[in-house]
Amino acid sequence: MADELICGVDIGSSKIATIVGVKSEASPDLKIIGFNTTPSRGVRKGLIVDIGEVTASVEESVEKAERMSGHKLTSAYVSVGGPHISSLNSHGIVAVSNPQGEINEDDVERVIEAARAISLSNTREIIDVSPRDFMVDGQAGIKNAVGMTGVRLEVDTHIITASLTNLKNIDRVFDDLGLANRGFVFAGAASANAVLTNTEKELGAVLVDIGGGKIDIAIYVDGALSYSSSIPIGARHITNDIAVGLRVSLDSAEKIKLHLSRYLKEAETLKKKTPEINFHDLNLPEEVTEVSLKSLVDGIIAPRLEEIFKLVFEEIEKSAFGQQVPSGLIIAGGGALTAGMIETGKKVVGLPIRLGIPDKVSGLVDEVIDPQYATTVGLLLYGAEDVAVGEGGFKNFNRIWKDFSIGGSVGKLKNFFKQFIP
Ligand SMILES: Nc1ncnc2c1ncn2[C@@H]1O[C@H](COP(=O)(O)OP(=O)(O)OP(=O)(O)O)[C@@H](O)[C@H]1O
Ligand SMILES: [Mg+2]
Repeated sequence: MADELICGVDIGSSKIATIVGVKSEASPDLKIIGFNTTPSRGVRKGLIVDIGEVTASVEESVEKAERMSGHKLTSAYVSVGGPHISSLNSHGIVAVSNPQGEINEDDVERVIEAARAISLSNTREIIDVSPRDFMVDGQAGIKNAVGMTGVRLEVDTHIITASLTNLKNIDRVFDDLGLANRGFVFAGAASANAVLTNTEKELGAVLVDIGGGKIDIAIYVDGALSYSSSIPIGARHITNDIAVGLRVSLDSAEKIKLHLSRYLKEAETLKKKTPEINFHDLNLPEEVTEVSLKSLVDGIIAPRLEEIFKLVFEEIEKSAFGQQVPSGLIIAGGGALTAGMIETGKKVVGLPIRLGIPDKVSGLVDEVIDPQYATTVGLLLYGAEDVAVGEGGFKNFNRIWKDFSIGGSVGKLKNFFKQFIP
């Protein structure tokens, strides 16, 4: 296998992050060789609301990542999230084609295609179909059916759909920049790739990515993605609350919020906390220079965190997998670092909670080992797996089926037609 360049573009409501990695035979690790994060413009709650602004932000981020990596980027995996995401679990069933009954790759493709046949409005598009479980002649719990013997093959799949308009808008942005879209990846699933352990996925766990404008949720049961959704509230709401509560501008509130996280981290290391927090060093235009820690954390931030966790809890209830997630919540996204996040979450949800920090990569990693880059790193890991499938054949049906989704297929068709354009 030659060295392969893999790129991911995470289009968030707060930032656009581009990541470039190399997968080589020499090392099992995925090595990061380029990274950039640029403030995002034109994205709201995961939706593109201004193509021109998004294109400019993505261009800036991609160019900087190109410079850092020393490579021209021609294609990338891209994140999609936000409340336009929805999911369902669908069942497929086929007769095994071989009269001797040995199941082959073709049978597996056919059964997943059967599960894929759902009725879908013409404003939505499937972005991912992942098998959760195969059944052969009624025997469930099979992860890979190829080579097994039977007459009837069934599959349970998890299907994620997204707003077609939004997907087309992302494709427009990529087209304008001459980048090929290698596939849409649900941001929640990407983050889960980066921060969940295999044991957590097997036992059952909930990935909660708290971004600036939305919260993506991905629930894993028995090792498989089983529920995907997103709620239209994010860490920006906490900034708003601070702005209102302390009567400061949004800019100042954001600075105060980040300063508070830094302060609490330091206080934890030094084991020393003062009742007041001081904002002198922030040079805010407002009069506010000192605030009681208790009124800021318990009075302003905690009620919003409680609301956030109640909404997350409702989603878990809605999924009907509430009794199957003993590993609890793993919190990623920039919002994961909010003061009091873990304590409030534990209280409201009553499940174990930990912070999700992406750490499954090597190379220029210092900056990306942060919950806000879980989706970004996840895109790279996803890409590496996708490339391995491309080279090695039929390892992971999930990835192959991705090719039928709009990003993959449209991209490929475009390339195909380009050959004929003089
Ligand atoms: N140290 C921190 N403490 C508190 N909040 C933080 C910290 N770092 C980042 N945030 C908040 O996280 C949010 C940005 O998170 P993130 O980068 O995950 O968003 P995004 O991916 O751009 O947006 P989205 O996923 O919603 O489209 C901002 O509201 C920011 O204030
Ligand atoms: Mg995000």
